Amino acid sequence: MKRITPLAILLTVTFLSSTRVHAVSYLEDIKPILKKNCYGCHGEEKDKGDLRLHLASLIEESGMIEAGDPGSSTLLTRITLAVDDDEFMPKGADAPLPKEQIDLIREWIAAGADYGNAAEIEGTEVKETPWIELLPEASPEAMKQLKETGALVLRLANNTQAINVDFRFRDGDTTDDLLPVLGQATEQLVWLNLAGSKVTDGGLSALAALKNLTRLHLEKTAITDAGIQHLTGLERLEYLNLYGTQITDAGLEFIKNLKNLKKLYLWQAPVGYEAAMALQEAVPGLEVNLGEDHPGVVRARATKQVERSKSDLEDAIRRAEEAQKDKEAAEASLAEGEKTIQELDVAEGKAEPAAEEAPAEGEAAEEKPAEEEAAEEEKPAEEEEAEEEEAEEEEAEEEAAEEEEPAEEEAAEEEAAEEEAAEEEAAEEEAAEEEEAAEEEAAEEKAAEEEEPAEEEAAE
Ligand code: HEC
Repeated sequence: MKRITPLAILLTVTFLSSTRVHAVSYLEDIKPILKKNCYGCHGEEKDKGDLRLHLASLIEESGMIEAGDPGSSTLLTRITLAVDDDEFMPKGADAPLPKEQIDLIREWIAAGADYGNAAEIEGTEVKETPWIELLPEASPEAMKQLKETGALVLRLANNTQAINVDFRFRDGDTTDDLLPVLGQATEQLVWLNLAGSKVTDGGLSALAALKNLTRLHLEKTAITDAGIQHLTGLERLEYLNLYGTQITDAGLEFIKNLKNLKKLYLWQAPVGYEAAMALQEAVPGLEVNLGEDHPGVVRARATKQVERSKSDLEDAIRRAEEAQKDKEAAEASLAEGEKTIQELDVAEGKAEPAAEEAPAEGEAAEEKPAEEEAAEEEKPAEEEEAEEEEAEEEEAEEEAAEEEEPAEEEAAEEEAAEEEAAEEEAAEEEAAEEEEAAEEEAAEEKAAEEEEPAEEEAAE
């Protein structure tokens, strides 16, 4: 008879559950089919026949699917028509969808057209649709005027009308009077570079209208807090470089309104560490970069280093103390073991009691067994007495041993002290090495941090 083994059961269960796992999924099976074959006419950009299929919610609203009833689902009917039928979908295709794909859609509808967590996932997809790709085109006249300033005017990418205007490479000084023309492309202007230019606080009023600005370079200009005031409405600003300007803590107050700001560069600007950190706190996701040499940054770094080293030191001391305890325990155990062996040796006649003066070798060895034999012989008769005697003898021996001890003890103590000193030294060395390692780490980190801004700057 065949027995049902646990393995057979396991395999059966696995098989059953794996078939269930493969129920048709909207996100994994259906959406990709629609995306490939239908979104082009029924998607985000087009709604042929007033139908959009790129979001679960829109499919549901369209009424093109009857959950649980494939036969009454227009969407399925349309894709199962003959290719030459007027209503065949995907319209214009010269062949129907592959049979397996049609079957998947049918199966999914029959099973209840479950969208799973599509709403959640598609919700984030929708948010990700970048506004930057939806910008209208700047007028040719506007582009012409912008280029006439001598600035570099470039579209950011093929799929957007957003432009980058960079004044760094034009001949001559870039002054305030060039800025009003930027107002010709208030929607499209998303990156603006005025680094090293001669613009002033007053000139920045022309930037107030550039509501789509995401990156703004004002480093190495004469801008002060008064100029920053004009930027408070630039809600899309993500990057602002004020390196080498005259911005102070008061100017940072205006920056608190820029809720999308992610990076703010303030190297060599006269701002305080506290105010900069308060700003970083006030704008979630913002990283304020004061530069590695800002005294506040140096202090924060040193403080962190001190804290870390202190805790390293404490660890090292604790470990040294533990090592000391281990050492003492090992010594005690060693002494105890040696004493036991000594006692056994004495009992077995292999050695004299520890305290006795070592007698001449040959004699002792010979004499002892004889003595013992005698004692043993006597035992049966006068056991009690003998035992008493023995006990007394032992006591006497012990006493004698104790008297001798002082000298021995001194020597032992000295030895122990020396050992301890050596071990302490080793522990100290270890601690020192660990400290060194911690310091090195800190130094490396610092070096790495210093390198970063330079790289970032290069990337700009
Ligand atoms: C080349 C463009 C194009 C493609 C691709 C396309 N359709 Fe259509 N679709 C249309 C047009 C145009 C209409 C409106 C005219 C009509 O009803 O036939 C339409 C209508 C529909 C309708 C009927 C809408 C209603 O309100 O009755 C459904 C359902 C449909 N399409 C499903 C699909 C599906 C599913 C796909 C992908 C497998 C697809 N379509 C691909 C152009 C397209």
